[in-house]
Amino acid sequence: MTATLEHAALRDAPVLDIDPYSDEVLADPYPFHQLLREAGPVALIKPHGVYAVGRHDESKTVLSDYARFTNAAGIGIQDIRKPGDFRVPSRLLEVDPPDHTKVRSVVTRVLSPLVIRRWREGFDTKAAALVEALIERGSFDGVEDCAEAFVLQAFPAAVGVRLPRIETLAIGEMRFNQSGPKNALHEQSMKKAQPYLEWFEETIQRHSVTPDSIAELLFKAEEAGELEPGLASNIVRSFVGGGTDSTIAGIGFALNQLARHPDQWQRLRDEPAKVKAAFEEAIRFETPFQVTYRTTIGETDLGGVRIPADTKVGVFMGAANRDPRRWTDPDRFDVDRPQVTGSHLALGTGVHACVGQMIARLEAEALLGALARRVKTITLTGEARYRPINQMRTLDHLPLRIEAA
Ligand code: HEM
Repeated sequence: MTATLEHAALRDAPVLDIDPYSDEVLADPYPFHQLLREAGPVALIKPHGVYAVGRHDESKTVLSDYARFTNAAGIGIQDIRKPGDFRVPSRLLEVDPPDHTKVRSVVTRVLSPLVIRRWREGFDTKAAALVEALIERGSFDGVEDCAEAFVLQAFPAAVGVRLPRIETLAIGEMRFNQSGPKNALHEQSMKKAQPYLEWFEETIQRHSVTPDSIAELLFKAEEAGELEPGLASNIVRSFVGGGTDSTIAGIGFALNQLARHPDQWQRLRDEPAKVKAAFEEAIRFETPFQVTYRTTIGETDLGGVRIPADTKVGVFMGAANRDPRRWTDPDRFDVDRPQVTGSHLALGTGVHACVGQMIARLEAEALLGALARRVKTITLTGEARYRPINQMRTLDHLPLRIEAA
């Protein structure tokens, strides 16, 4: 819809004078999410001059309708096509069909269920060893010693890159802060990651990746002419950026909620296959990737509200995942909630839906499954702390004690 809309019936968006990236909202986004949903199908976020959606239906529309909402301006709040805000786009996530379709089909083939299944055994072995070590310790940090320790072992080995902890976390934090406004978090994380930028660029090049890995398959596809020159390392960058911190966050959320709800932990103990549902519910409940952006191509109508052309629209997936229009009792963590997988928006939807979702699920199932088989009780022994990051919700500290079965 590129022509100017002439329908006088269209309303202007209600205005919310709240900064979604303020310390208060990042610490507790749920009151903001409620205001956003209640304001209407779409609202104007005054401090940043961008539009935002928080209801499930409209979020799904904006994520799916690439003819009206482009990814080419970047999935952060800045328009990366504009001078001053330029950065190298992800050639998967920040392009539209038909260019996206070609690249995505090669990536989908590389990540075929057959290839992924080969890793299941490796993930299970690593998870079992980690759980034994944690049982030995008794008390530990659910983030650093469990979620991070596991993901930083399992994921890089599969992708075929080397990801040391300090460097990887600094790069991830920069990336997810950079997608937000140029606030103090953005600036601090850029400074923190600066010493590691060169290391990261090296890590994603052909000569650095390990044989028989996803990264190597991507470079082979490039050598065979299926991907344009330079694309394989760009995709490996998107894998590392999109797949590390998000999975750590998701597993951390599952541990946090299962420790808070012993009855639900018992459900997993009785039926370990429930770990799948527990992970999906955990990422619905706390949504690691809180917000992503699209940009209107022309002036457009969303739920009867006018959005101008060439304007950023934030999709607050964390708000959509607790929209009472879609979910019964949305603020309750419930491993038995029906129809969560495929309905929550924590993994996106439409053509850009998370391409690594089966890897994330495999990792979570390996770790939570190993815990469910070996651990009788998980107890929270102190306060869970969150790490403020512009575009992401994640735990920083989760003091846990476990007791073997
Ligand atoms: C719990 C873990 C994960 C979460 C919550 C998550 C979340 C998301 C979301 C919300 C999107 C869509 C973004 C948008 O439409 O703007 C996405 C896309 C993507 N994710 Fe994930 N992700 C996870 C794990 C992974 C893993 C393990 C990988 C590694 C392969 C990965 C790689 C990607 C890539 C490359 C895209 C872009 C796909 C495309 O544009 O076609 N993600 N992810």
